[in-house]
Amino acid sequence: MKVLVAGGAGFIGSCTSEYLLDNGHEVVVFDSLVKGHRDAVDPRADFVQGDLGDALAIERAMVAHRPEGIIHFAAFIEVGESMVDPGKYFRNNVACGLNLLEAAAHNDVRKIVFSSTAAVYGMPKTIPISEREPTIPVNPYGESKLMFERILRWYHEIHGLQYTALRYFNAAGCSPNFGEDHNPESHLIPIIMQAAEGKRESIKIFGTDYPTPDGTCIRDYVHVLDLAQAHLLALESHEVGAFNLGSGAGHSVRSIIDTVREISGQEFRVDEAARRSGDPPRLISDSAAARATLGWKPKFDDIHEIVESAWRWRCDHPKGYAR
Ligand code: UFG
Repeated sequence: MKVLVAGGAGFIGSCTSEYLLDNGHEVVVFDSLVKGHRDAVDPRADFVQGDLGDALAIERAMVAHRPEGIIHFAAFIEVGESMVDPGKYFRNNVACGLNLLEAAAHNDVRKIVFSSTAAVYGMPKTIPISEREPTIPVNPYGESKLMFERILRWYHEIHGLQYTALRYFNAAGCSPNFGEDHNPESHLIPIIMQAAEGKRESIKIFGTDYPTPDGTCIRDYVHVLDLAQAHLLALESHEVGAFNLGSGAGHSVRSIIDTVREISGQEFRVDEAARRSGDPPRLISDSAAARATLGWKPKFDDIHEIVESAWRWRCDHPKGYAR
């Protein structure tokens, strides 16, 4: 299948593009490089540098390459920033994405797979979280992703565009060639690794008084290659709707710090800090629907393997994608 990957120069987009190419598919990466990296574009893929805010640019790419399927990763992802500048999130993650959907609808694209998030659930009441949990986002980032899921439903009803929204929990790890390099970095595992590398003075634990066994927040870390596998299954499937993607295991912030210490063999300073606003105490996925309906079979269920994979990429790329 020929697949246009919007946001294919970002973390999950680059790893998924590589996975598609390894499995015999053709890939066209469409990315503005505002957040993505040119070196994260697989050399086997065609590359179009363009912004989804530019309706003509995405239309032209679609006409030139005629993809049968689309994977849409292109979005801003910082929860904290979305609480300060909501307009930036609604403009980019909703309004700009509409240009992609319009171009898809009148260029006979069969299927779109959308990169959604556990943030659509806000503060979930039931753990593990299934797709039946009410969607009540508590920040504009999660709201923007939920709005786009709803828009997809209407494009399906009206234009017949098939879609699958994949709600990821905490993505981590690396693919054979690509890894995580955000600027600024806001995610836990790469931040701890920066401390282990001596690139930051310390790691701050945001909140040690949560109602969890060690007082720190619990998250569900899922390997990026397992996410990549789910995208390919979703592209090939005729199922329409939203699916959670997580490992189903919960790990506290403290336990992730210990795992990075063990794997890196490095000591670093850990400070206890105040809670970060909007953090739910526990997010653990029930991904039974993705397994049963899409046939998803995640391969990485050991947090050590996931952290080792992230650490390996950092050791091989001490400057990330910077030359
Ligand atoms: N944390 C720290 N110190 C840090 C960074 C993070 O203690 O320096 C804590 C956070 O407070 C949180 C946990 O580590 O408890 C994980 O934080 P991340 O920022 O790595 O990830 P989130 O769980 O906040 O966010 C992830 C995805 C989002 C998605 C969200 C769903 O990155 O895209 O899950 O709630 F929206």
